[in-house]
Amino acid sequence: MGFYSKYIFPRMLDWMLGPPEMGKFRISALEAARGRTLEIGFGTGLNLAFYPDGVTSLTVIDTENMLPDRVNRRIAACKFPVTKMQLDAQGRLPFEDHSFDTVVSTLTLCTIPDTAAAMAEIHRVLKPDGHFIFWEHGRSDDPATAHKQDLFNPLQKIVGVGCNMNRRIDSIIREGGFEITRLDRFLMPKSPRLLAEMYRGIAVPI
Ligand SMILES: C[S@@+](CC[C@H](N)C(=O)[O-])C[C@H]1O[C@@H](n2cnc3c(N)ncnc32)[C@H](O)[C@@H]1O
Repeated sequence: MGFYSKYIFPRMLDWMLGPPEMGKFRISALEAARGRTLEIGFGTGLNLAFYPDGVTSLTVIDTENMLPDRVNRRIAACKFPVTKMQLDAQGRLPFEDHSFDTVVSTLTLCTIPDTAAAMAEIHRVLKPDGHFIFWEHGRSDDPATAHKQDLFNPLQKIVGVGCNMNRRIDSIIREGGFEITRLDRFLMPKSPRLLAEMYRGIAVPI
């Protein structure tokens, strides 16, 4: 891991994804979370303050251990127990089948290299009546914008440490064995168009 991805990128991420106006998007994405919950691609813990009361416990996983002091302070302020684990979502997760009521991914399916493997694990660990909550950026429905996303994606992968701007998030979720029961498509205000194409919703395992 280079200097940029280890020291600069985590601070940049926390600064870019942490402003108060992002909070309302996190609230609306997370409002359906309940029970025993797993969050993949936890980052710097920016969702923690926005989980609703129905969440009884939270397990969070990430391949990185970003800004640990800051993140530990955020965890300490939580009203439910939080277990933090450094794990790769696309590998076999150390959880029994059907162990979570909710799995959450925010701004993470863009970065996981093998999304099919990660979705298979999410499917396995979710209870049959559980749900997968997502709030992601991805590929535009507008062909001209999607073309530009394809063009700039190699650069984005460098600057965003593996982040892709051109993934069809709804297809990734459906191909993972889920039915999408709610899908909001919108442009993130005040963001560059190529990164502003949002997919927010809920999916259930089939
Ligand atoms: C853009 S950040 C989003 C952080 C957080 N979810 C948020 O909404 O602020 C993407 C996160 O996914 C993590 N990540 C990337 N690949 C992963 C993988 N295979 N398994 C688990 N986490 C991963 C990255 O380390 C990073 O923390």
